[in-house]
Amino acid sequence: MSFVFSDENLKKAKEHIAKYPKNKQASAVLPLLDLAQRQCGGWLPQSALEGVAKFLDMPFIRVLEIASFYSMFNLKPVGALHVQICGTTPCWLRGAEELKKACTEHLKIEIGETTNDQMFTLSEVECLGACINAPMVQINDDYHENLSPEGLIEILEVMKKGKTKEKTDVSS
Ligand code: FES
Repeated sequence: MSFVFSDENLKKAKEHIAKYPKNKQASAVLPLLDLAQRQCGGWLPQSALEGVAKFLDMPFIRVLEIASFYSMFNLKPVGALHVQICGTTPCWLRGAEELKKACTEHLKIEIGETTNDQMFTLSEVECLGACINAPMVQINDDYHENLSPEGLIEILEVMKKGKTKEKTDVSS
């Protein structure tokens, strides 16, 4: 199935393109990929990459190169909560390995995997720019900093309850 932006996202996409000079619409590829990813539920299927390429009049391969370079874009489905653990030196020195161990043991999955209930995906990423408060983890759009393994597990459980409630509210 081919990808098209929703009316709301189409408006936003046009606003992003308008920020750049005429015929330089390709400069808006990052925000447009972000819009497409949100519209597709947190990841970019090939149809979305093709849709963005067509929309911006760019070769598909250039869009794929960009989407596969940045860890903010997911080329396969992720869980409702995408837990991205920073493993770069400042976070590593301050306990990133312990955070990783706590998450893999608690969720019973390895880095790069998703729990069977599709609630959590675990990823390890490079520096997310919050080194001053290392170690840190990004969960969906939010940063959680100065973490201990116990504190992170508590956050995961609170967020899981919130997501479960969201699902129940939508279905009831
Ligand atoms: S090293 Fe982890 S945020 Fe910079």
